[in-house]
Amino acid sequence: MAAVTLITLTALATLAEPVVAFGTPYHHTYPTGYSNCSSSDLAQLALGKVLSDAAPVFGIYADVESSTSTWMREYADDTLIVHMNLPGTHDADTWNYSLTTQQSLDHVTGLANITEFDPAAYRCQDLSMVRMLDDGIRVFDLRYAFDVTNTTLVFWHGPGLVSETATVDDVLYGFYRWLDDHPSEALFLSFQYEGSTTPYGSNDAG
Ligand SMILES: *[C@@H]1O[C@H](CO)[C@@H](O)[C@H](O)[C@H]1NC(C)=O
Ligand SMILES: *[C@@H]1O[C@H](CO)[C@@H](O)[C@H](O)[C@H]1NC(C)=O
Ligand SMILES: *[C@@H]1O[C@H](CO)[C@@H](O)[C@H](O)[C@H]1NC(C)=O
Ligand SMILES: *[C@@H]1O[C@H](CO)[C@@H](O)[C@H](O)[C@H]1NC(C)=O
Repeated sequence: MAAVTLITLTALATLAEPVVAFGTPYHHTYPTGYSNCSSSDLAQLALGKVLSDAAPVFGIYADVESSTSTWMREYADDTLIVHMNLPGTHDADTWNYSLTTQQSLDHVTGLANITEFDPAAYRCQDLSMVRMLDDGIRVFDLRYAFDVTNTTLVFWHGPGLVSETATVDDVLYGFYRWLDDHPSEALFLSFQYEGSTTPYGSNDAG
């Protein structure tokens, strides 16, 4: 069941035209003449950098083989999804949001004059997303919007910015890496535009 399903939700949380996409590996092809081992070293370095950028949202990557990290192995590929109970987590990306996180991002949120509340109000989980995957979670509620410079998509819980380095793309590399290491598993990722982030943020701005 090695597939990742992307479900796009609207700002109103209504299910609108779900997009289904299947995971592709992250391998790159290199131009002729650059096929030496240094290319794969560079690919490893690049992936390591992306996973490091993703860590504040995805967690620190480690390949864990356990009964919970491979539980779908027990089910035949033709098992209907409606016959399965898939555990999921709400606002999964907020697991490391604390006063320290909030204050460490003041120089970013300050650019848009954002005022947050008590950090405990934004944190909904305790374990990193990679730990959730290894523990058997297969459905993730992910909330994103533009960063304060309108250039990249990052994770928010209302005005609580979760990280400035972990972009949505970076975190997807984390999920794909995990799927490559756990080919028996399948995931549902729900991407929802998060409102009330920057004062000017709006859904039609991307
Ligand atoms: C490619 O790697 C081999 C063995 O590691 C080395 O001998 C060779 O010089 C390298 N070629 C280039 C173009 O770097
Ligand atoms: C979690 O937050 C703390 C405090 O901001 C930080 O030191 C730590 O690096 C964060 N963890 C990850 C994986 O980014
Ligand atoms: C933030 O507040 C300052 C001081 O009130 C103001 O000069 C500035 O234009 C505000 N910036 C934004 C992005 O709203
Ligand atoms: C981001 O876009 C909004 C809406 O178009 C605009 O008001 C705001 O100034 C932009 N922010 C930056 C940093 O360019």
